[in-house]
Amino acid sequence: MSPASDNMIEMQVDVQQILRDGVERTDRALERLLPPVTQTPASIHGAMRHSVFAGGKRLRPVLAMEAARTIETAHGGSGLPEGNEDLGAAIEMLHTYSLIHDDLPALDNDDLRRGKPTCHVAYGEATAILAGDALQTLAYQTLAGMHCPAQQAVKIVGLIAEATGTVEGMIGGQVLDLEGEHTKPTAESVLAIHRAKTGALIRVSIVAGGIYAGAGAEDARRLTEFGTKSGLAFQIVDDVLDMTQDSQHLGKTAGKDVASDKATWPAVFGIEASRKDANRLINEAFVALEPYGEAAAGLKAVARYLVERTH
Ligand code: IPE
Ligand code: IPE
Ligand code: MG
Ligand code: MG
Ligand code: MG
Repeated sequence: MSPASDNMIEMQVDVQQILRDGVERTDRALERLLPPVTQTPASIHGAMRHSVFAGGKRLRPVLAMEAARTIETAHGGSGLPEGNEDLGAAIEMLHTYSLIHDDLPALDNDDLRRGKPTCHVAYGEATAILAGDALQTLAYQTLAGMHCPAQQAVKIVGLIAEATGTVEGMIGGQVLDLEGEHTKPTAESVLAIHRAKTGALIRVSIVAGGIYAGAGAEDARRLTEFGTKSGLAFQIVDDVLDMTQDSQHLGKTAGKDVASDKATWPAVFGIEASRKDANRLINEAFVALEPYGEAAAGLKAVARYLVERTH
């Protein structure tokens, strides 16, 4: 496929509409799945809801939905497989748990998240730790109840647990990120941190979305390739935005990485090269989706948004 026709496919898609739709579907599912604040013990349900409904972009659920749409369409179906918003909601619970813990005094020690006081600032440290734990267990409870064949559900659960775990997964990446503070980052070390702490969850959101829609081994391989590159590009942009935007616009404390002497992509390569790397990675990621043609237009548009966003 030529670059020109590629661009035309991208242009036919209204990414803002996809994002709005994804937020709406995800929020509706989360509203149904999270216990109400009136449920005892009320404090933790208040804390969970405080962080989940603080205004996240819901990018991982949107990626899962668009990956599902790509595979469903490529296999001759029409649109989104039924019930897939519960998968997105579970992933968003895991992501929100990771943010609550990331912001704790023992980790990044942040007081602003999604434009609101962080969970531990609003509810105290003990409740915030438990709210993170509770979102993780509720995520797996939700995944266990997904409306897809059991074999697919079990595969998804295993992949998500692995991607959020300690071996090249999210928690392992958070460990590397913390241990990388005040050390001189290298291309290798920052790549390992970014792939694990953020890239793995983005990659698995895409792969799990595909599997929900019945992706075979070859589909999963393509989505893994696409998701690995997109996930890395996402975190490079997160690092760049931390240095180039203000806190109000980001909804979280800007300039935090330099202040904490974090191992970031711009710390190794500079801001301009980081922007170029993020764009290059997205273009490379698109190659893996070529066999799907127009069926992947929505997924590609969201991936493009990952690097063009300003918050
Ligand atoms: C921020 O993720 C945390 C990282 C993994 C870098 P997002 O930029 O997706 O944050 P929300 O969910 O929109 O708040
Ligand atoms: C957070 O990375 C990654 C996870 C929460 C797993 P950052 O520390 O860069 O995220 P922000 O910038 O605080 O959102
Ligand atoms: Mg962090
Ligand atoms: Mg942080
Ligand atoms: Mg950051």
